[in-house]
Amino acid sequence: MTTPTLSLAEMAAEVLNTADGREKTALSRRHATAWFEARQQEPCAIEIGTASPPLHPARPEKPELLNPRDVPKRKPGSDAGRIALLHAVAHIELNAVDLHWDIIARFSHVPLPVGFFDDWVKAADEESKHFNLMCDCLEALDSHYGALPAHAGMWRAAEDTADDLMGRLAVVPMVLEARGLDVTPGMIEIFKKAKNTQAVEALELIYSEEVGHVAYGSKWFYFLCGRDNLDPKDVFHQLVRKYFKGALKPPFNEEKRADAGLPPDFYWPLAEANRPIPGVGD
Ligand SMILES: [Fe+2]
Ligand SMILES: [Fe+2]
Repeated sequence: MTTPTLSLAEMAAEVLNTADGREKTALSRRHATAWFEARQQEPCAIEIGTASPPLHPARPEKPELLNPRDVPKRKPGSDAGRIALLHAVAHIELNAVDLHWDIIARFSHVPLPVGFFDDWVKAADEESKHFNLMCDCLEALDSHYGALPAHAGMWRAAEDTADDLMGRLAVVPMVLEARGLDVTPGMIEIFKKAKNTQAVEALELIYSEEVGHVAYGSKWFYFLCGRDNLDPKDVFHQLVRKYFKGALKPPFNEEKRADAGLPPDFYWPLAEANRPIPGVGD
């Protein structure tokens, strides 16, 4: 193995600056392998370091990014609907790769146990695998990532929390990725009905690994609250109200959320029916 010259934060910025999805994920996986190899050595052969991540990660020319309300809706029972669903998941996974490397690059100056970085490198590596699995499923159906338009708004949470690590943890893993736990079982059913074993197996793997990403979010959120002697539930509610536009949507996957360290009193008070009217009793 050649001696690595980049710091972990620089590796993260390199992934963020790579536009093509397959290239981005291949680089992400190589960097993850290099990091975990370096962590076997004492002291670790790669330093955390610092970097200047771009405010927006590099993205391929396609898919065209549209306002969520302009993305055409397709019936999930049709071939076109199932392709659209896989395409939407591929887009989420590619954003997730960037989100996990971004938390590393953007907050590398914050004093944190090295386990924080291990967790997000592992999550980024898994998202890279998820993106490739979704691309493989699309290609098996004669489509590809980039063939359809995708949501433009997914980087918003990262931009809004670029200076707020606790806000980032509250909104990205503990709200957005937790939402994935709620909706993935329904998607698996759609592909079971269509007898698409490749998609069922890919989505089942994604579902099992996403619990870990939400759990990393909760773990480090509790850690930071504990370090500053803050009440995690109150701070979570404040931060989600500040950075997440709109209410959380039930039904919630209470079992998997519990596995990931998210108790009901974290998310139910932020759900649609319980959303307080701004300025009234809040
Ligand atoms: Fe994922
Ligand atoms: Fe994830």
